Amino acid sequence: MKRIKVRTGKEYDVLIGGGLLADAGELIAKARPGRRAVIVTDSNVGGYYGDQLAESLSRSGFETATFVFTAGEENKNARTLFDILGFIADCRLTREDLVIALGGGVTGDMAGLAAAIYMRGIDYVQVPTSILAAVDSSVGGKTAIDLPQGKNLAGAFHQPALVIIDTEVFGTLPMRDYCSGFAEIIKYGMIEDPQILEQIKDLGEYSSAIQQELEELISRCVEIKADVVAEDEFEGGKRRLLNFGHTVGHAVEKATNYRLYHGEAVAIGMMRMTQAAERAGRCDAGASGKLEQALKIFGLPTGKDSNQANLPDKDALMENIAMDKKSTDDGIYVVIPERIGKCAIEKMSMARLEEFL
Ligand SMILES: NC(=O)c1ccc[n+]([C@@H]2O[C@H](COP(=O)([O-])OP(=O)(O)OC[C@H]3O[C@@H](n4cnc5c(N)ncnc54)[C@H](O)[C@@H]3O)[C@@H](O)[C@H]2O)c1
Ligand SMILES: [Zn+2]
Repeated sequence: MKRIKVRTGKEYDVLIGGGLLADAGELIAKARPGRRAVIVTDSNVGGYYGDQLAESLSRSGFETATFVFTAGEENKNARTLFDILGFIADCRLTREDLVIALGGGVTGDMAGLAAAIYMRGIDYVQVPTSILAAVDSSVGGKTAIDLPQGKNLAGAFHQPALVIIDTEVFGTLPMRDYCSGFAEIIKYGMIEDPQILEQIKDLGEYSSAIQQELEELISRCVEIKADVVAEDEFEGGKRRLLNFGHTVGHAVEKATNYRLYHGEAVAIGMMRMTQAAERAGRCDAGASGKLEQALKIFGLPTGKDSNQANLPDKDALMENIAMDKKSTDDGIYVVIPERIGKCAIEKMSMARLEEFL
């Protein structure tokens, strides 16, 4: 098992290892003792791991109750959030007690927000079960729900008390989710550590034989994220690096009406930015080729594929970028690769970005 400290305003540990779910109760009781725990999970993950987590918590003396919502981003909304809050209140949770998010990013974001606002904030634990949630959404304290007007528009910063990543749960993750999550792993390679692009070579498909590699790789990504958020908890500077590929990626997601998964859209975004940076002479030649190879291991789109006709054209892309919640009147911060493992943050006007792309 690996242990990584996240040194934000409130410090906490991220634990990574195979089989940790069975010991979750004990690990949680040690880090953050409490009497009651409400598990929030979705209809897929709850079926696989809900009982195991509840039993482990009971063995460590927690009184538990489980709230299950129907899986899917379309349920990351105010209605489910208020159902969760009502459930927590019915269970009479107090500030001494805990919420536990068991699932992917949708579960973590929503359970985290419920914990952030119930009684003006109670503690919660993240037990991420998707690759994306493990390397990205469960660490760093961003929580949110979607509004009809846009994704993640209502949220709060609320750091968890503990994060437990059991690498064995990825065995039940649908292949497309598994691969999509690797786009975020490749992102860490591009912004910080070129070694990651080597480490992923044999991980194109999940098997029980790759536990050790997964543990090391996920630990490395969490370490990078932990360092970034410790330096810039509320995204005023360095944390923007984590948005590499996301400005274009979000626009692609939107323009394709979310037909593409998040990681798939981010893959296209990273490719576009790297190709543009190469053309502008700002990035080492060959970087986009290496990125493309890495994405192909997971069958991720590169924007160069034969089904490219389905991708948005330049005007649709720019229109959606302008609607990005991170854009302001005088432009948007974009992340520009300089070489594999190093990126720069730059504010660009829309006109400049259009020309650059
Ligand atoms: N808070 C942040 O910093 C942050 C960062 C990135 C993304 N996000 C959010 O994360 C969400 C996307 O996360 P996601 O891709 O994990 O989505 P998700 O939670 O919907 O999970 C994807 C699918 O996989 C299933 N699943 C998850 N783990 C499983 C497992 N081990 N076995 C079987 N099925 C499993 C889920 O039920 C779901 O159907 C988005 O809402 C995004 O906005 C948040
Ligand atoms: Zn992302």
